[in-house]
Amino acid sequence: MTRKMTSSHTPMIGVFDSGVGGLTVLRALVERIPEASYLYFGDTARLPYGSKSAATVAHYAVGAVRYLQDRGAELLVIACNTATALALDEIKAAAGVEVIGVVEPGAEAAAAASRKRNVVVIGTDATISSHAYRRALEARNVAVREKACPLFVPLVEEGWVEHPVTEQVAKIYLAEAFSPEVHSDDADVLLLGCTHYPLIKPLLRRVAPEHVAIVDSAESTALNVARHLHVELPPSSTQTKNEPSPVRHIKFFATDSAEKFRKMGSRFLGLAVEDVVHVDLKE
Ligand code: DGL
Repeated sequence: MTRKMTSSHTPMIGVFDSGVGGLTVLRALVERIPEASYLYFGDTARLPYGSKSAATVAHYAVGAVRYLQDRGAELLVIACNTATALALDEIKAAAGVEVIGVVEPGAEAAAAASRKRNVVVIGTDATISSHAYRRALEARNVAVREKACPLFVPLVEEGWVEHPVTEQVAKIYLAEAFSPEVHSDDADVLLLGCTHYPLIKPLLRRVAPEHVAIVDSAESTALNVARHLHVELPPSSTQTKNEPSPVRHIKFFATDSAEKFRKMGSRFLGLAVEDVVHVDLKE
């Protein structure tokens, strides 16, 4: 596949997440836009965000995106579903550059994929309680059932992406989410509204009802950013098989141990994580 950017300027994209999970979004971005340079901020000292209040998440996220902007980020991607769901307005108000969160692109992709206009969305407690995905889907005339799946984040961080315990937990959560008693109209899309869930997509594929399509907000956000930057695929008749461009540069910032971030991060990114700088943000 060939890509082209309409402008010769390749922007510095700042990606923010509560920890390493947002590397699934960075991974999708790098696949779509390898020409860009990236700064990634993981607030590993203060995660999880998924169990915190909106005020706390907004305070943490605003500090982190200011840091990314000070280091030259020209476009901000809020990879964290919880931060997007709880604090996107505050982040936008504090940022001096364009901000793209994961909720709108995720909802857009799920709405496009659902023929029955009926979607199940899963995420952290905070994301689900905020009803941000519900609002985004209902605005597109899609019925929604929301289901918090808080155990998935620690299970994925433990590396249990193909583990009987994770499978059992997924069976329980999805049986509740797709239960006919609470969801009489058949949902035909499962929207993954958390950074960690793409890592258990094969497991969720096995456990979810067969007719259900799985939509991943990481993928749809990367596509949205590519559209925003005018990264274009040529018409199919002119497509040539090009080697993908090498990734220009990724610099990582972590608020907890850089070594720990390096180790766990490579699992989420699918590439070696180098160039990690420890950051101590003042409260
Ligand atoms: N990054 C968070 C999200 O996507 C999951 C981890 C956390 O709770 O901090 O919602």
